[in-house]
Amino acid sequence: MARPRVFVTRRIPAAGLDRIVSACEAEVWQEPLPPPYDVLREKVRDCDGLVSLLTDQIDAALMDAAPKLKVISNFAVGFNNIDVGAATTRGICVGNTPGALTDATADLAFALLLAAARRVVDGVLDAKQGRWKTWEPLGYLGVDLAGKTLGIIGMGRIGFAMAQRGRGGWGMKVLYFDERPNDKAEAELGARRVDLDTLLRESDFVSLHASLTNTSKGMMGAKQFALMKSTAVFINTARGPLVDQAALVEALKTGKIFAAGLDVTDPEPPDPNDPILHLPNCVVAPHIASATHTTRNGMAEICADNLLAGVAGQPLRAWVNPEVAERRRV
Ligand code: GLV
Repeated sequence: MARPRVFVTRRIPAAGLDRIVSACEAEVWQEPLPPPYDVLREKVRDCDGLVSLLTDQIDAALMDAAPKLKVISNFAVGFNNIDVGAATTRGICVGNTPGALTDATADLAFALLLAAARRVVDGVLDAKQGRWKTWEPLGYLGVDLAGKTLGIIGMGRIGFAMAQRGRGGWGMKVLYFDERPNDKAEAELGARRVDLDTLLRESDFVSLHASLTNTSKGMMGAKQFALMKSTAVFINTARGPLVDQAALVEALKTGKIFAAGLDVTDPEPPDPNDPILHLPNCVVAPHIASATHTTRNGMAEICADNLLAGVAGQPLRAWVNPEVAERRRV
């Protein structure tokens, strides 16, 4: 029997890629930048499977150009780059990589929190660039963490891991905003579920862990930043478009909030002149939350499992649209 044809939009760790390449007729995009949309649409034309990244836009038109496509295996936990509804309608399975990156993402979110709260990047740049003249009693003053209130927007796996760090490491009080109550967070971390406005008003640190959907897009705007404390720190390791970035810049510039730590922006990367990159009270990382060897290997394994199950007509290990099972393409 012919081996399944698959296209892989970037080199991923060997922990997953080697299995894909040995089981499939695989083409792997070797360039450092993503394939342009038109190229990708051409590449998937005869494919049974696709490994995509969060930088690849997988829409209905692309799926229509790939009549044999059975599975889209996203090398990410987030899948806002894929029109999942369109995939389900066409009988295409969609997989993602949850779990593998939970701790790494929470670690990075906390690193950003500490860096923004304690003005680490600001200070490091001054030290490296010759502006460190003496020890300053009034210089680089930041905010303390111990015993403060941490507000988690989206108490899923990553939100929970972030809350655990704040609670266990710094004795923080945890508030959360989520459509669904999280009994484990309430029982184990004493977390209290509140509405978004209450969370914004009462938290010293606000960390965003929501998924990006049509309804959550722009959920943090001028009105929300205005509710936050002027000493508060805002963290986003989820998706850039959840935030009205112009409103965030304004809030940071005018001191409506103290600082921000971002692993995601809108767009990515920002234009080099974008003010978000030039504010002394905003730490911006280049979307690296899952960037550890162990985590990326774990993601690659799940990604390969999803792809190989998808082309073989098996249930996916991490299945975004299991409701497609009844009518999946064979
Ligand atoms: C990264 O942002 C991911 O969704 O895995």
